[in-house]
Amino acid sequence: MNTPIYDFLQNYSKKNTLRCHMPGHHGRHISEELSELYRLDITEISGADSLFEAEGIILESEENTAALYNCGATLFSAGGSTACIQAMLGAMRLENRHIIAVRNVHRAFLNSCVLLGLDVTWIMPDYTDGILSGVVDMAAVENALAENPHSCLYVTSPDYTGRIADISAMAELCHRYGAKFVVDNAHGAHLHFLPKSMHPISLGADMCCDSAHKMLPALTGGAFLHVKDKRYKPILKQTMGMFASTSPSYLIMMSLDLCNRYMAEKIRGDIEDNLRYIRDFRQRFSNRLIFTESEPFHITIKAAESGFDGEEFAENLRKYGAECEYAHKDTVILLMSPMNIRADYERLGNIVEKSLELTRKSDIKPLNIPPVLPVKAMSIRAAALAENEQIPIEKATGRICASVKVPCPPAVPIAASGEIIDENCVKIFKSYGISSVIVVK
Ligand SMILES: Cc1ncc(COP(=O)(O)O)c(C=O)c1O
Repeated sequence: MNTPIYDFLQNYSKKNTLRCHMPGHHGRHISEELSELYRLDITEISGADSLFEAEGIILESEENTAALYNCGATLFSAGGSTACIQAMLGAMRLENRHIIAVRNVHRAFLNSCVLLGLDVTWIMPDYTDGILSGVVDMAAVENALAENPHSCLYVTSPDYTGRIADISAMAELCHRYGAKFVVDNAHGAHLHFLPKSMHPISLGADMCCDSAHKMLPALTGGAFLHVKDKRYKPILKQTMGMFASTSPSYLIMMSLDLCNRYMAEKIRGDIEDNLRYIRDFRQRFSNRLIFTESEPFHITIKAAESGFDGEEFAENLRKYGAECEYAHKDTVILLMSPMNIRADYERLGNIVEKSLELTRKSDIKPLNIPPVLPVKAMSIRAAALAENEQIPIEKATGRICASVKVPCPPAVPIAASGEIIDENCVKIFKSYGISSVIVVK
């Protein structure tokens, strides 16, 4: 597959043009190791196209991605899935659709609601792994769709633990009720290339974001916004452009362009190999570790249920040279990707073996305080932009949440902006080590 952005940057770098344009480093490096990156880092010069008005090399590369994912159109983002979520919700706002969301959203969603003045009808999942993961009741989805005509269903899948929602069933329900179906697939850019595609667009979603940087060899910040109906592309460019930087990084876009070649030529083989290694890894520890049901590359360990403290285990992994994606008393997430090789799994297996020996047995109980939807007092936007103060969590009962410091990215908001913090919220905040909260004054 061709790589128009990468080729353009390489050619420009080799031509030794006198750069009388931004960025200010003018192709000169200030760190020897990064010299090549500085030479390739440019702005929208002649021939380089422009992300939000793409009609040249960026458009060509986006079209390559769309063909690989078999979707109507793809937009590049150099601002991660965050910019894609803003764009997707912006498009839904332009259509005046009401937002129904399954509650385990990333804070990028909540911030977009603030920016766009959106209010949300929440669907609470049935929580199984603390506030990280839950199962969605389809009857609740159908009720919400029936009660809110002209809506949009927003779902985060895979969630942080790798659990996948029933996307096909949700798509069918949405389309039956005339709703759009938007999926936060930040953790699932690779899902299209599994032996049977589990990618949201293949399963019927109308649009989704993929953080290419999470699961593919893209630089941090690189993401795709895929859409089934390509007529949405201009609207999504417009809404992404409302919030994103006007200087998107060409290095990031180049890495998305190179991902195209990787996906066209290599990813399926790499996934096949990794699936074998991951299966063997899970098998090797099946008597000692309890895993969460998830898509394969999220190896999520139920630490408390396996009989140890996840934070202590993660500390021991670190001692032996492995760093995990996430660790809490209850849960440890080892996030693998198609880029891992056999030797990584051998090394990981040995490190897990030694860490298990070092980690003390513990009868620590999994956190079992299911979140309950708090009462809403104000709109998300009004609360997030109101005058506020930070107070200790012990004094928070009865106060309206303005903004919280969440323990890890895409968990259920214990209380979202505008909701009244109750006793249950306080208990959950404390159990996640959150000691203060920002409330409306
Ligand atoms: C589920 C989910 N959605 C959205 C995001 C935001 O993605 P990005 O960091 O690519 O902007 C994240 C990041 O952690 C995430 O986990």
